[in-house]
Amino acid sequence: MSKLRLGVNIDHVATVRNARGEGYPDPVRAAEMALAAGADGITAHLREDRRHISDADIDSLAVICRRRGRPLNLEMAVTPEMEAIALAHRPHAACLVPERREEVTTEGGLDVVKGHNSIAPVVQKLVDAGIRVSCFIDADLAQVAASKSAGAQVVELHTGAYCQAVRERRPEADHLLDGLRRAAAEAHRLGLEVHAGHGIDYETVGPVAAIPELMELNIGHFLIGEAIFIGLGPAIQRMRALMDEARSVRAA
Ligand code: PXP
Repeated sequence: MSKLRLGVNIDHVATVRNARGEGYPDPVRAAEMALAAGADGITAHLREDRRHISDADIDSLAVICRRRGRPLNLEMAVTPEMEAIALAHRPHAACLVPERREEVTTEGGLDVVKGHNSIAPVVQKLVDAGIRVSCFIDADLAQVAASKSAGAQVVELHTGAYCQAVRERRPEADHLLDGLRRAAAEAHRLGLEVHAGHGIDYETVGPVAAIPELMELNIGHFLIGEAIFIGLGPAIQRMRALMDEARSVRAA
C-alpha cells in the first residue's frame, strides 16, 4: 500500500492569534514547523469572514510552501471572491468546501449533487489554472459520482461524523466507518484520488488510515490542541507514526 500523505491544517493557530488581535502565534511559523516535523503539505481554510486565516497568511504560506517544494492545499468556499484568490495564487491544490457563517466548523460535506451546475464551471477554471481540485463531501456514493462528473480530480471524505461517534462511544461508528470504506472504494473505481479529513485524533486515525484507497489525510484541530501539551513537532510525529502503523498492519 502506498504511503499516506499528511496535510497539516494550521487554521487554529490563527484562531488563537486572532483571539487577542496580536501577531502571535504565527500560523506561518507553525507551517514551517509542521513541514520540518514530517507534514507532507499544509492546509489552510480562508473563510469568508476571515475568522482565522487571513489573506496575508495565504500570501506567506504560498511563499514558504513554494520555497520548500511542498503543496499548499487551499480550502475554499465556491464563491467568486475565493475563486479569484485561488486563481491569483495558484496553490498546488484547492479543496471546495461548503461554508455557512454561523457554523463553528465545516459541518457537512459540499452538496455537489445539488450544486453541480454552479460547482462544475469553478472546478473547470481551477483545473485549467493547473490547480488540483478536490470536493469535500460526505461519504455518499451520489456525491462521489457528482464530484467526478463536475470534473474534480480528488474527493476528500468528511470523517467528522465517524470521529464524533467514536468519541461519544456511539454504536453507529462501525456503520459510519463502513460508509467511508464504500465511498473510498467507489471514488477509486471512478479514477478519483481519495483523501479524508475532519475531526481525526490519535484514536480515530488508525481505522481511517487503514482504508487502502486513501492517499492523504488532512488533520488540524486535534494536532493544534495536542501541541499545547507536547509541542507541534512531537504531536505531528506521533500522528505520522500512527498512520504508518495502520498501513503496515494492513499490509502485513
Ligand atoms: N479537511 C477539510 C476539508 C476541513 O474543512 C477541515 C477543517 O478545516 C479539515 C480537513 C481538518 O479538520 P480538523 O481541524 O477537524 O482536523
